[in-house]
Amino acid sequence: MCGIVGGVAERNIAPILLEGLKRLEYRGYDSAGVGLIEKNTLHICKAAGKVQVLADKVKASKVRGSTGIAHTRWATHGIPSEKNAHPHASSEEIALVHNGIIENYLEIKAELASKYEFKSDTDSEVIAHLIHFYYAQSQDFAAAVKQAISRLKGAYALAVICRNNPRQMFAASRGAPLVVGIGIGEHFVASDSFALLPVTRQFIYLEDGDLAEISREYFTIWDKNGKETERQVQEILQEGSTDGAKAGYSHFMQKEIYEQPSVIAATLEGRIHAGEIQTTSIAPQFLERLKAAEHIQIIACGTSYHAGLVAKYRLEELGISTAVEVASEYLYRQNAVAKNSLFISISQSGETADTLAALEKAKKLPYLDYLTICNVAESALVRASNFALLTRAGREIGVASTKAFTSQLVVLDFLAMLISQAKKTPIKNSTITAYGNIPAEIKRLLELNEEIKKIANEIKDAKSCMFLGRGAAYPIACEAALKLKELTYIHAESYPCGELKHGPLALIDKTMPVIAIVQAGELGEKTMNNLHEVQARGGRLIVFADSRVNTNTIGEENIVLSLGVCQEEIFPILSIVPLQLLAYNCALLKGTDIDQPRNLAKSVTVE
Ligand code: M6R
Repeated sequence: MCGIVGGVAERNIAPILLEGLKRLEYRGYDSAGVGLIEKNTLHICKAAGKVQVLADKVKASKVRGSTGIAHTRWATHGIPSEKNAHPHASSEEIALVHNGIIENYLEIKAELASKYEFKSDTDSEVIAHLIHFYYAQSQDFAAAVKQAISRLKGAYALAVICRNNPRQMFAASRGAPLVVGIGIGEHFVASDSFALLPVTRQFIYLEDGDLAEISREYFTIWDKNGKETERQVQEILQEGSTDGAKAGYSHFMQKEIYEQPSVIAATLEGRIHAGEIQTTSIAPQFLERLKAAEHIQIIACGTSYHAGLVAKYRLEELGISTAVEVASEYLYRQNAVAKNSLFISISQSGETADTLAALEKAKKLPYLDYLTICNVAESALVRASNFALLTRAGREIGVASTKAFTSQLVVLDFLAMLISQAKKTPIKNSTITAYGNIPAEIKRLLELNEEIKKIANEIKDAKSCMFLGRGAAYPIACEAALKLKELTYIHAESYPCGELKHGPLALIDKTMPVIAIVQAGELGEKTMNNLHEVQARGGRLIVFADSRVNTNTIGEENIVLSLGVCQEEIFPILSIVPLQLLAYNCALLKGTDIDQPRNLAKSVTVE
């Protein structure tokens, strides 16, 4: 993944690059670096750790420059360290930052081994030397970049500068996003427009295979065939509600959990209101597609995959057969496509490499059409899909996804309602009305925080936890386990209750908390039966249950948290909220890095 920022300006751009990197830390945060050209001298400053460590180093060293590139890294080749941090330089003339994976780097490295000293373990360094190799022959920077990238196999976004051409930068994008920011007498590049919002609101999203030359006064773009091309300029008017500030909360994740009532209200706007489904904002062709759809294939990763699993319950209730698969698995197998099958990708960022690659693969298969459910309107996934339903969660900064997940569930339910309407399947009025209650219901559940803190204290020292649920509460158990793993590094597993007796019951003892999510009704009763099996084997139960569930049989040594009455249709959306708080509070007690857990990145833009 990694984040790239670069620029060619009149002023010293070091502060712009560092601010850009801070905004891109969601893409990786294990090391960072900046390369600046000042008076024909190339300065490189790198640091292991977060961007702030680099910022302090840059300040102390007083390096500056009006042309520069910068990078925040998420290690793929080589451990997180200063030597593996970008930019990578060649002969103190060329400096390069790269996001992606170069598949043929060993071959190129072998070719250049006798000519260059390789200082890092990265695949990226070979690109810097390869560009220099061609540059040394011709002294033509542009030609050298073009020659070098024509040799690369794999995915990349890169930005490169040359000491002898201080007013020029090249940026190339293939299979990894890159945006050109247009300023007045200055131009920039970045992995995400968010990095450049303090300096411009005008952007060009490079298309796959594009190469751009950036200077102060102009920029030129060539397409994948080397033909000079024009790309549409897009304007971002607003920075978005989560403009980087924690607004009084201790962590972005905490803020994002507490934002859920308002972002869900925003996600519902113009879609479900006063007990009615509104379709005025939906393209008629899309409604036609929904009418024709007989099968749905959902593809996603991580939390977004869990949202897909929840949706399967709702869609199949409507008689639409639905398959849900993690993108990385969908990619490497033969896929049989059912007749009239609609392909749906789900992603918060819209930049997840596996999900994007799955969509590209699916586009070559005979699907009825391609819809994405995404949180970022300008993302690669939205641009590559024929239809998009946006989640309107606002920028999510915490690596652990929270508000994006509940917003995805709302949009997926809205989609199910659109399908029902298109197919003239009746929808109960009470179902539609329930959605209007979600913001208030989540506010009510957020008030359980003090009780949840006590539960967090009970599980914080556990080595392992098990999460259980039945029906749509099972994917909620999966999501709750993922949140706990990411934030606290406690091992957590999730099972459908009925599977317990097929093996996992062997794990039960008094040291492992078993956390169950119990809805009202028949499924809840069945879950309670399974919990009695756990109790009979000395297991330690923590039960998050709808207040209508009879939990009197749970012994006093165990914990029951009543969720109050949660309407069945919205139970999955509501029940995850206290479990997000559980993971958050547990991480607080353990003192882990909540917004940026170890080894992770917000946006996984490599395979
Ligand atoms: O941006 P996406 O929704 O495509 O991201 C998918 C996963 O990488 C993401 O959900 C990840 O699992 C989160 N860290 C979960 O909290």
